[in-house]
Amino acid sequence: FFESLSSAPHDPIMALSSLCLQDTRSQKLDLGIGVYRNALGQTPVFDAVKAAEQSLVAAQDSKAYVGMQGHLGFNRAMTSLILGEQWETSRVRTLQTPGASGALRLLADLIARTNADATIWLSDPSYTNHEPIFRAAGLDVRYYPYFDAATKQVNSDAMIAQLSQLGTNDVVVLHGCCHNPTGADMSLELWQQVTELSLKTGFLPFIDMAYQGFGRSLEEDAQGTRYLTTRVPSFLLASSCSKNFGLYRERVGVAMMAGHSEKASDSMLSQLLSLARNSYTMPPDHGAAIVAAILSYESLKASWQAELSHMTQHIQNTRKQLRQALEHRFNRDYSFIEQHQGMFSMLGIDTDSVHRLRTQKAIYLLDNGRLNLAGLAPSQIEYFADSLFAVERM
Ligand code: LMR
Repeated sequence: FFESLSSAPHDPIMALSSLCLQDTRSQKLDLGIGVYRNALGQTPVFDAVKAAEQSLVAAQDSKAYVGMQGHLGFNRAMTSLILGEQWETSRVRTLQTPGASGALRLLADLIARTNADATIWLSDPSYTNHEPIFRAAGLDVRYYPYFDAATKQVNSDAMIAQLSQLGTNDVVVLHGCCHNPTGADMSLELWQQVTELSLKTGFLPFIDMAYQGFGRSLEEDAQGTRYLTTRVPSFLLASSCSKNFGLYRERVGVAMMAGHSEKASDSMLSQLLSLARNSYTMPPDHGAAIVAAILSYESLKASWQAELSHMTQHIQNTRKQLRQALEHRFNRDYSFIEQHQGMFSMLGIDTDSVHRLRTQKAIYLLDNGRLNLAGLAPSQIEYFADSLFAVERM
């Protein structure tokens, strides 16, 4: 049956991760996959997660199914976390999903079911798994200008010029914060312009919010999303608890949506539930139950927020030290490293240098030059800067 089948193409992030795992060189640095590591190189379980987990295990008296939409308390808490406490929820529907990838795929399938001819517009560049997910749903994918490789900032004018050409057949994917892979975020002013354009041209905004809390703060990182979602008639949103709750392997995420009326939102949700039923039926409960517990008990919530802001501070310190280390070696301005937000930055390292870093220095970055600063310990910054300096002079 499968004799003529060839292997599927490698996913660049996952393939790099296994390549790095197999590397036995002691000095190796894994700066590929988006996982947070502390100064000791560990990805610890949050204290609040441990505490919530223990009380859940003690209190849980059944493993019966939870329900198609997942944990309803989790869905409500996530809606408030992302859209804000003041959000008027009558048109918003939220569904628990297996990670944000699960949410992206379900929402992509929803778009394809509604309008198979829709065009998905991604930022250039975007998260490497965006295009495969939308293509797997049968959708056409195109890119709008986003990152200016020279200034390492968002090219707002080019972005707005492209988006103003779009119409009701188009879906625009926006990164809620901590842009993956560049680290260059949209300003609030740019969010306002994009909102105006969406209202004027009718394109559908689709927000991917995978790193809330890793930029400035939980509240500030959601500012643009909240501005847009309170003004447009309809939107889609995918979010993840992998990073900000450290629940990577538990696969916890949400798909959120609003239609122009409550009835439209109900139809969207029912389509999403049927898509989930056609695939995995319902999401795993454990991680969502942990998040629901953390967000509903003040002491757990305070502990979680303190740990998250400590991580964010750690990344900001790494950004500062890396900027100094590079400016000390190269005659270039690296101030953008401190302006970028979240785990990632693109420093302008070309593919040849990325490969030389990998083969000669055991330093792993994505081929597109994305660097995970949350994987770089303070003790490794000098080695990274020396290595980059060495390979760029070859
Ligand atoms: C990443 O961008 O490295 C993460 O989001 C991991 C993933 O699932 O791709």
